[in-house]
Amino acid sequence: MARRKLIYEGKAKILYEGPEPGTLVQYFKDDATAFNAEKKAVIEGKGVLNNRLSEFFMTGLMQIGVPTHFIKRLNMREQLIRQVEIIPLEVIVRNFAAGTIAKRLGLEEGTPLPRPIIEFCYKDDALGDPLVSEEHIAAFGWASQQDLDDMVSMALRVNDFMSGLMLAVGIRLVDFKIEIGRAWDNDFMRLILADEISPDSCRLWDIETGQKLDKDVFRRDLGDLADAYTEVARRLGVLPTNA
Ligand code: C5P
Repeated sequence: MARRKLIYEGKAKILYEGPEPGTLVQYFKDDATAFNAEKKAVIEGKGVLNNRLSEFFMTGLMQIGVPTHFIKRLNMREQLIRQVEIIPLEVIVRNFAAGTIAKRLGLEEGTPLPRPIIEFCYKDDALGDPLVSEEHIAAFGWASQQDLDDMVSMALRVNDFMSGLMLAVGIRLVDFKIEIGRAWDNDFMRLILADEISPDSCRLWDIETGQKLDKDVFRRDLGDLADAYTEVARRLGVLPTNA
């Protein structure tokens, strides 16, 4: 079989050329990295769990009308996605203080925020994805004002959907990160939710016990990461099959 053309290899995923023009195959690796790849490990089964969980979240989001790049899952580690032009921003939504906002503003972890707070970081590994303001985004032309407004409303819709889904299974959605891309339908440009939504890119705490069920388990050496992700998948009824 001919080898597929590799388009891009990131820390946790690989993108290959897809079967049709305008499509890609997204492969989920078992690699875990933290602190801008200063800490690394291979967590057996993580890729399989994230593939299934991202499929689950993106499928649900499409059902409420949020456009996503997800087309279909191909196998345990791969999904077919629509090719988009990624906007070079990480869009972070926070409901409770944790991680960098807790540190930056001197807030105790777990403090409820007055309302969901959206932050933008410029996607650049060499710079450590620095926080940027809307002023930077406009001045450097990373996104138009209209795109920014649309990105904020998409992020808030994702937050409402994901918060409700998690609450129903006893999990608090503390914060998460999404990436958004542009795609053209004829001459019409659309913003599309891209990348992945998984416990790699969210903070998920058990509502009763506060137990962390996300990548902080790896970042902070709190236990077995695959067990934590399996627990999220189990509660949501999304356990991997041998498909
Ligand atoms: O580290 P920080 O508190 O800024 O992260 C906020 C949220 O965004 C967390 O859920 C984290 O997992 C996610 N994130 C991510 N990728 C990054 C930075 C943050 O998925 N490069």
